[in-house]
Amino acid sequence: MIELKNVTRSYELGGEKIFALDHVNLKIDKGDFIAITGPSGAGKSTLANVIGGLDVVDQGEVLVDETNIARLDDATLSNYRNKKIGFIFQSYNLQPMYTALENVMVPLILAGISAAERKKRALECLKAVGLEDRIEHKPSQLSGGQRQRVCIARAIANNPETIIADEPTGNLDSKKGGEIVSLLKKLNSEAGITLIVITHDPAVAREAKRIITIHDGRLK
Ligand SMILES: Nc1ncnc2c1ncn2[C@@H]1O[C@H](COP(=O)(O)OP(=O)(O)OP(=O)(O)O)[C@@H](O)[C@H]1O
Ligand SMILES: [Mg+2]
Repeated sequence: MIELKNVTRSYELGGEKIFALDHVNLKIDKGDFIAITGPSGAGKSTLANVIGGLDVVDQGEVLVDETNIARLDDATLSNYRNKKIGFIFQSYNLQPMYTALENVMVPLILAGISAAERKKRALECLKAVGLEDRIEHKPSQLSGGQRQRVCIARAIANNPETIIADEPTGNLDSKKGGEIVSLLKKLNSEAGITLIVITHDPAVAREAKRIITIHDGRLK
């Protein structure tokens, strides 16, 4: 269970204070599938990054299974991100010099998994996303949809409780985007992974169990 209590994240730029998150309260149950929508600059990525421990807050609590991750030291927070959260980004964020298999092994190396075990696990994950015939390909040798599948495989490598996907279909056409959403939905319904998807696309948002809209840092 994830709970945000009175979370504020602001930026001061040129004397002006911008509230990316303005006293946000939100509860996300384990196994939920929520879509976060709202206009550009509304605070969607900030919200995702705060939940994923990639961004700090000025004020408030970010409770994950009753631990306030806003107060964790760097090492514990890195461990939280590595073990409990799988991130998926619009722009993939894959290592260009690594093959699909090597990209999926990165979080397993960080988790201290043995070489034999991590190869086995990475292969399982690539198989789960239908990429077992592309394991030696580098990102530049893969299509956009295939790259996003590598990201999903990488995101599930350490059996996370939660997947946070920030515009996962933003660079894909609607057919490929639909396939990515189906894969994510399957991870939610079959593996019980909590799914948080940020999207501009109403068709993607409609797939969620719950839609949350954010405007100027405030939930509607
Ligand atoms: N590093 C930063 N410094 C100053 N302001 C920032 C910074 N990062 C984000 N912001 C501001 O915080 C607000 C929320 O940004 P955020 O990236 O969360 O929006 P978003 O809803 O994800 O937008 P988009 O749909 O365009 O991705 C914006 O007004 C943005 O300008
Ligand atoms: Mg964003």
